[in-house]
Amino acid sequence: MGLLSKIQDAFNRDKAPGKAASALEVDVHSHMLPGIDDGAKTLDDTLDMIERTSRFGIRKIITTPHIMYEFYRNTPDIIRQKLEFVQEAVKERGMDVELEAAAEYYLDDAFIQMVKNKEPLLTFGDNYVLIETNYIQSHPELLQVFFDLRIQGYKPVFAHPERYAYLLRNRAKETLEAYQRIYDSGALFQLNLMSFAGYYGPQIKNTAELLLKEGMIHMVGSDAHKVEHVRLINAMKQTKLFERITAADLLNNTL
Ligand SMILES: [Fe+2]
Repeated sequence: MGLLSKIQDAFNRDKAPGKAASALEVDVHSHMLPGIDDGAKTLDDTLDMIERTSRFGIRKIITTPHIMYEFYRNTPDIIRQKLEFVQEAVKERGMDVELEAAAEYYLDDAFIQMVKNKEPLLTFGDNYVLIETNYIQSHPELLQVFFDLRIQGYKPVFAHPERYAYLLRNRAKETLEAYQRIYDSGALFQLNLMSFAGYYGPQIKNTAELLLKEGMIHMVGSDAHKVEHVRLINAMKQTKLFERITAADLLNNTL
C-alpha cells in the first residue's frame, strides 16, 4: 500500500466504531441456507453449521447464498423465504444467534445487466454488496462494475481476493500492485478464514497473509459450505494467526 493510501486509510479507520480487539462476532460470508446453492444441503446441516459457528463466539451470521446465472438462479424472494424458514427453526431450538442473509453475486452478464437496470440488490450492514468473480480469468468489467455500484450508493465488497489466480504474479511486489489497483477502486476486501487455515493450499494462504500484512483487509468471513468447514475454522481459534487477523481493524464487529 502506498504511503498516501496508508494515511487515508488510518484516517478513515479512526472514525470507525470501536470493538473488542480479540474477538470475531460476525461472520459475513457463508452458504448456510439449505438446498439453494452448493452449501448446506438439508436443514439438519444448516442447524449443525449454525450451532458450531455460534459456539465459536459468533453472535451474528450473515449468510450469502450464490447468485450465479449459470448455476444458482437465486432471487431475493427465494433467499428471504429460506431465511425465514431457517430463522424459525433456529428460534424453535432456542439457539442464541442472529441470522441474516444477503448474497454472493457472481460477476457475469446477468449481474452486469442487473446493475445497469438498477435492480435492488441484496446487501448487508452499511449497504455492502458481496461480489465474486471467476477464479482463473479476470473480468474486464470488474472495476467498472465496482464504480457503477458506488455511484448507486452501494459499497462493493470483493469476496476472497486471495483466491483469484489471475491476480497472482511471480513476485510479491507485482502481485501487490495487481491488488492495489482493485483496492484503490474503493472496493472492500473480504478474506476467507479458510484461506488462512490453508484449506485451499499454500499459495492462497500466503496471499491471504500478504494482504493481512499489508493491511489490505476490511472483513473476514468463513465462506463455510459445510460442517467440516466450520470445524476447520473453529480449530483456528487458539492460533497466533487468528489473533493477528482479529487484531486487524476489521469491520465485522460493527455489523
Ligand atoms: Fe462463497
